[in-house]
Amino acid sequence: MIAEPQKDKADEKYSDLLLTFYGQLRSVFTDCVKYSTITSCEMIALDAIQVKSATKSFGTKKAVNNLNLSVQAGEIRGLLGPNGSGKSTTMKMILGLLKLDAGQIVICGLDVAERPVEVRRIIGYVPETPRLYEYLTAAEYLDFIGVAYGIEPEERKRRIQNMLEALQMNAHLNEIMSGFSQGMKQKVALTAALMHRPKILILDEPLNGLDPRSARIVKDLLHRLAAEGAAILFSTHILEIAEAICNNVTILHDGLVLAEGTVQELRSMAGSPGLTLEELFLKLTGSEDTAKVVEALRL
Ligand SMILES: Nc1ncnc2c1ncn2[C@@H]1O[C@H](COP(=O)(O)OP(=O)(O)OP(=O)(O)O)[C@@H](O)[C@H]1O
Ligand SMILES: [Mg+2]
Repeated sequence: MIAEPQKDKADEKYSDLLLTFYGQLRSVFTDCVKYSTITSCEMIALDAIQVKSATKSFGTKKAVNNLNLSVQAGEIRGLLGPNGSGKSTTMKMILGLLKLDAGQIVICGLDVAERPVEVRRIIGYVPETPRLYEYLTAAEYLDFIGVAYGIEPEERKRRIQNMLEALQMNAHLNEIMSGFSQGMKQKVALTAALMHRPKILILDEPLNGLDPRSARIVKDLLHRLAAEGAAILFSTHILEIAEAICNNVTILHDGLVLAEGTVQELRSMAGSPGLTLEELFLKLTGSEDTAKVVEALRL
C-alpha cells in the first residue's frame, strides 16, 4: 500500500498559489487554443515533422549539427544515440523550447519559430524528466491540462479515467503526486501528453520506469495512434523496443546523423544482415569493445 503524503500548511499555501496562477494561465491557454487555425495536420499534404539543417550549440559544444529529419503521418521514428548525442535537444527544438542557431523546423506546415503556440497545440510531448506540479493530485493536474486544451468536462473526465485505468493508476487519482514513484509520474505525463488526441507525438524515453504490462500497453497504443495517422518521434535506449515498434530509426552521434532507415536497411548498410539492433548500434557507434572495457574494470 502507498502511504499518502500529508500536505503541511506551507504545502497547502503553495498549492493554493499554484492553483490561482493556473486559473490565470487557463484563460490564456484557452484563448490560444480557441484562435488557433490548425486542428489537424491531415489537412496539409506535407511531412508532419520536418527538421531542416538544424544546428544548436551550448557554448563551444555543438549539441545538434546540421540535422535533417522528417516524420510522416502514420510513422513511428525511433531516435537513438549514445548519451549526449543530441536526442533531447532535437526534441526540445521541435517543440520550440530551444531556439535554433541555424536551420528551420516545420510542423504540419507551420514554422515553429513563427507559430510556436499553434505548433504546441498539435503536439503531445513527454519530456525525459517530466516536471509535474507535484503538490497537486493527479486528478487536479490532468484536469488542468484538459482545461488548457479546451476539452469539455465530461470528455476530460472520461479520457483521464480511461487512460489511468488502462495503466492501473485509477486508485491514485486523488493522491498528491509528490509521493508518486518514477513510473507513476511517467504514467501521469503520458496521460497528459495524449489527452488532446495530438496528431504529433514527441516522446523522450517514454517507457522509462514503466512496468512490463504498462510498457506493453503504451507500445500497443502507439501502434494504434500511428495507424490512425499520428506522426511519432520516439527516443529510447532500449533497442529491442525500438526494433519492435519503430518503422524507421535515426541514429545520432555527437549531434550528427550517423545512419537512418528501417532496421533492415541499416543492417545491409553495415554489411551484416544477421545483427540485432543492439549489435548494429554498437557497431555503428564504434562501441563494440564492451567486453574489453568490462575486462579492464578491476573492481
Ligand atoms: N542546457 C544545456 N546546457 C549546456 N549543455 C547542454 C544543455 N543541454 C544539452 N547540452 C549538451 O548537449 C549535448 C546533447 O545533449 P542531449 O541532452 O540532447 O543528449 P541526449 O542524446 O538526449 O542524451 P541522453 O541519452 O543522455 O538523454 C550534450 O553534450 C549535453 O551536455
Ligand atoms: Mg536525452
